[in-house]
Formats: sequence, C-alpha cells, structure tokens
Amino acid sequence: MINTKRVPMASFTLFFLSITIILHVFVAATPSSSSASEQLSSSTLPTRFLDFAKKPETFDWMVNIRRKIHEYPELQYEEFKTSEVITEELDKLGISYKHPVAETGVIGYIGTRKPPFVALRADIDALPMQSKVPGKMHACGHDAHTAMVLGAAKILKQHEKEIQGTVVLVFQPAEEGGAGAKRIIEAGALENVSAIFGLHVMPNYRVGEVASRSGAIMAASGRFQATISGKGGHAAIPQHSIDPILAAANVIVSLQHLVSRESDPLDSQVVTVAKFQGGDAFNVIPDSVTIGGTFRTFSKESFKQLKQRIEQVIVGQAAVQRCNATVDFFQEKKPFYPAVINDGGLHKHFQNVAGSLLGTNKVMEMPPVMAAEDFAFYQEVIPGYFFFLGMQNDSSERLPLIHSPYFTVNEDALPYGASLHASLAATYLLKHHHDVTIVEGKNHDEL
Ligand SMILES: *[C@@H]1O[C@H](CO)[C@@H](O)[C@H](O)[C@H]1NC(C)=O
Ligand SMILES: *[C@@H]1O[C@H](CO)[C@@H](O)[C@H](O)[C@H]1NC(C)=O
Ligand SMILES: *[C@@H]1O[C@H](CO)[C@@H](O)[C@H](O)[C@H]1NC(C)=O
Ligand SMILES: [Zn+2]
Ligand SMILES: [Zn+2]
Repeated sequence: MINTKRVPMASFTLFFLSITIILHVFVAATPSSSSASEQLSSSTLPTRFLDFAKKPETFDWMVNIRRKIHEYPELQYEEFKTSEVITEELDKLGISYKHPVAETGVIGYIGTRKPPFVALRADIDALPMQSKVPGKMHACGHDAHTAMVLGAAKILKQHEKEIQGTVVLVFQPAEEGGAGAKRIIEAGALENVSAIFGLHVMPNYRVGEVASRSGAIMAASGRFQATISGKGGHAAIPQHSIDPILAAANVIVSLQHLVSRESDPLDSQVVTVAKFQGGDAFNVIPDSVTIGGTFRTFSKESFKQLKQRIEQVIVGQAAVQRCNATVDFFQEKKPFYPAVINDGGLHKHFQNVAGSLLGTNKVMEMPPVMAAEDFAFYQEVIPGYFFFLGMQNDSSERLPLIHSPYFTVNEDALPYGASLHASLAATYLLKHHHDVTIVEGKNHDEL
C-alpha cells in the first residue's frame, strides 16, 4: 500500500529530468523511497512547474488563449463562446470535463478521479463596459484568470500519472455580481472537494510577487436602491409640493451616521450612496428621487445589522420630510456576497509553495480590502484560499487599476499564475493523499 503510493511521488522530481515515455517505464521499476525525497518533490516541484510555464509552448499558448477570450468579452451567464474556447482546449489536452454547469460553466478533471480532490477556480465573465465590443469588456482580468487555469491544466496533464488524487478545474461564470460561484456549488461541482484555490491579477504588485493573508481579506457586499416619493410642483412655490430632493439629501446624510456613530470603529464597514437620480429641470420639483449604493462589512452580524438599519433610516428619514420610501436589496437577482475568509492551514501551504516558487521575499502580507469577490461562496462550504498576483513591471508605465476602462493585463504574469495554481494543487494532493477525508454532503449548507 505504502509502496505503491510512494513510487510515483519519488519519481515526481525525476520526472522533469527525463522524457515522458522513457520515464514511465522507469517509474514502474523504481523502488519505494524515503520520506525525505517526498519532501524534495514538494519543494522542487514549484520551480519546475514555473520553468515549464515559461517555455514558449506553454507561455505563447496561454497568451493566445487570453487574447482570444479578450476579443470576445461576454457578460454573466452568456459566456457561450468563452466556454467553447475552454472546452476546445480541454479536448485538445485530453482532459475530461462537464459542460454546461451553472449555465455556461465548465468543470474539468485531472488525475486519478479518486480522493483527495482539490479545486482551482477561474472566473470567465466580462464587465458591462465599453470596449471594441459595445458594452462589454474584460476589464477585471478574468480572461487572464481563465488562461492561467488552462495553463495549470496543461502543466498538470503533462504530469497526470504523478498526481496523488484529482484536480478539479472550475471555470465559473458570472463573478461580476451574478454569484456564479453559488450556482457552481448548487450544481454539486464541489462535492468531495476538500480545498479550493483562486487568484486575482493585481496591478499594485510587481510581476513575480503575490499577496494575501490568513483570515478575512475581502468584504461581504450588498446593494440597495430606494425610491423616495414626494409631490412634484413649481420650484418657486414649494409650499404646494413635497420635495423628495431635500428628503433624499437628508437620507444620504443620515446613512453616513450608521458607520460613523453606530458601528464599532474597529469593525470595518462601508455605506456608500453612489447613485442619485431625480429632477430634470432647474425650476421643477420632481415627484420622486431614486438613490442607490453599496454596503460592506466583514462579519455576518454586522452585515445583517447594517442592512436592517439602512432600510429603517431611509424610510424613517424620508417620513420626517413627509415622503414615502421603498427600499430594494435585489437579493433574488443579485445575492449578497459573503466575506472572503482565507483558511489558516491553506495560508501556510500557500506561503510554502509560493515561497519556493518565487522566493519568500516575494510573498507579501496584504491588508484586507473592502472590495468583494464571489470566491467567498466556496469558502462558506469548504476551506478556500484566495490570493493576488502581481502584474506591474517597473520598467513600464503604471498599470491602470481593475474596472478601469484603460485596464490592461501584463501577460508576463501568466506563467506565475499558472505554475502557482498547478503547484498549489499538486503539492496539496501530495500532502493529503494519506489522510483522505471526503467532505460529503457538506456542499448544500446554508446557501
Ligand atoms: C463523491 O463521492 C461519492 C462517494 O465516493 C461518489 O458516489 C460521488 O459520485 C462523488 N461525487 C462526485 C461529484 O465526484
Ligand atoms: C405615502 O403613502 C401614503 C399611504 O399609502 C399616502 O396616503 C400618501 O399620499 C403618500 N405620500 C406621498 C408623498 O407619496
Ligand atoms: C519588464 O518588461 C521588460 C520589457 O518588456 C522585460 O524585458 C522584463 O523582463 C520585464 N520584467 C519582468 C519582471 O517581467
Ligand atoms: Zn471585477
Ligand atoms: Zn475580478
């Protein structure tokens, strides 16, 4: 039992030094080895994978996929062409998959098809922004994320015989507000999976650097919209009107007190009103005003409390000025995103793998941010780890931030993302194939 398991592991290192076919014969004949060489495999594997990812046959291939997807940005749950590109490449690589999952998602499988299972996630959707294609743009780097998980798939497929379990490739639709991750879970794609890794490109860090942290790293997020109704009329005869503009202005000011006066200063929260629509003329009081915005917290309790108070304050403050207000949180169409909370054990795993791949000085501790990511849904059901991949090159201009209309991907980062993904998964399986625990039936919890 032990012998049969150790044989392929010992060969993991050797594998890179030789040609595939020759080695397979060799592997079968190799006797079992000590646990020292098992560690050696885990520690040298990341740099081998990085070298492989940097080779033109892998790098140029990823670049082409990235550009192909970039040319056809598709919005949430409409990623038809994108998933076609993915399935075509998986076919060429000889990787089996399920499609469609959650409308337009693709789930691939590499390895033994037996436990342990570890997942790598890419989001595949674009943003509703203007580009060469009207109203659609890959301005968040999801084209790069997809190319990198495919890159990882290529690396892992090359070494499939050595994989001590199964790597599940999750190509997920609708990250940008559509909660595609939730749909992936509901489709049962994470059944038996014991850990999941995901990354996001980040212009603030350099190529070859990564950043993350243990615990909460991104916030829970909800949106709200309110219609404040009064009675329109002549702007010079206000006594005959009920002014919703003034009421809305007071509502906005009162909403600011929720964070500044009601919440714990050490419990980070945000309430932002980012939308204000009302009135068309300088001498007409309108009938109604619509305001909308976002709210963020890290804890579930604070989130619930904030949501409740947002509604109370809007309705109550509007009433002070004789207006009526209705509040919509769009929960049906746009589910709230939970906070992204990184598993402590996986953080250690990430530090080890990224440290040996990039050098420990390139693995940055990142402060939490109030932005949101639907990767959080996965972490509600299984341990997950999310990290940021640097893209900045000191010798070029500063890259625009994500969601900017000028956003660009520095493709030099692709081999780092692909090899990190592949290494995180392969070494996770090396570590855990002894203590296989099936997280069965846990995947439908409280969603
Ligand atoms: C999960 O494991 C159980 C038991 O081994 C198996 O019946 C089931 O098909 C697995 N599910 C998936 C999605 O692989
Ligand atoms: C507010 O709602 C009440 C009850 O439906 C209604 O009587 C009143 O006219 C409304 N006021 C405004 C300003 O729309
Ligand atoms: C930065 O860009 C230059 C010019 O394209 C390139 O030679 C160099 O390798 C890049 N540096 C990194 C870290 O990718
Ligand atoms: Zn985004
Ligand atoms: Zn994104």
